[in-house]
Amino acid sequence: YKRITTKSLIEMKANGERISMLTAYDFTMAKIVDTAGVDVILVGDSASNVMAGHETTLPITLDQMVYHASSVVRGVERALVVVDLPFGTYQSDPKEALRSAIRIMKESGAHALKLEGGAEIKDSVKKLLHAGIPVMGHLGLTPQSIYKFGSYTVRAKEDAEAEKLIEDAQLLERLGCFAVVLEKIPAALAQRVAESLTIPVIGIGAGGGVDGQVLVIHDMLGMNNEFSPRFLRRYMNLFEGMTQAIGQYSADVKSGDFPNEKEQY
Ligand code: KIV
Ligand code: NA
Repeated sequence: YKRITTKSLIEMKANGERISMLTAYDFTMAKIVDTAGVDVILVGDSASNVMAGHETTLPITLDQMVYHASSVVRGVERALVVVDLPFGTYQSDPKEALRSAIRIMKESGAHALKLEGGAEIKDSVKKLLHAGIPVMGHLGLTPQSIYKFGSYTVRAKEDAEAEKLIEDAQLLERLGCFAVVLEKIPAALAQRVAESLTIPVIGIGAGGGVDGQVLVIHDMLGMNNEFSPRFLRRYMNLFEGMTQAIGQYSADVKSGDFPNEKEQY
């Protein structure tokens, strides 16, 4: 495979080629996602929800992100591996942001980092970029700020927040970010941002007028049947399939059907 780089993503946008991105948090899943041809694998801090069972992304630590990221990197040959800087490891000052960033880059072998926010984290974004670390932005519904927002509803429906989002996206491009994620904002606004930038805009719940899409893999595989936002397309019902298979295994053990004569030495 030819490796995907931050440069190839910018070329893809210039050529009108859409970018596919999915999350992964472990070696086995990352290998499947990479083999399937997904361009960008995000080691999201959504691991806090889907791997650890927390209600929000806030509790996950830098050590835990390093563990997930290094596991993913070992399973990937082609995709670009982007890792979320977790809450509390980059907001206080640029030096701390750089220390956190360097830890993930050195200890996991990831290729790029993603940070939530615009103007507020400008100095940290600059610091990382000056150190040679590619940065992906993330605007709109930024889950690390959930207690400021109060709910997971659509963001930037009002003009003031939409204007700030447009300015933040342009700022991130000017600073040198290689891409921006827009989460849960009106499709028309997301399209407007995508058209005004030369770096790719990857949407989640941001409509089809952007340069690529990202989903949480557990959601698109239907492993969680309690989470059904409008933007989610389920490609499998793994919750049902896995529950059925595991129930059958348990029944086979109890009945003595497993293992049979061919399944022993
Ligand atoms: O953590 C995550 O999974 C994310 C994506 C939803 C963009 O940040
Ligand atoms: Na995230």
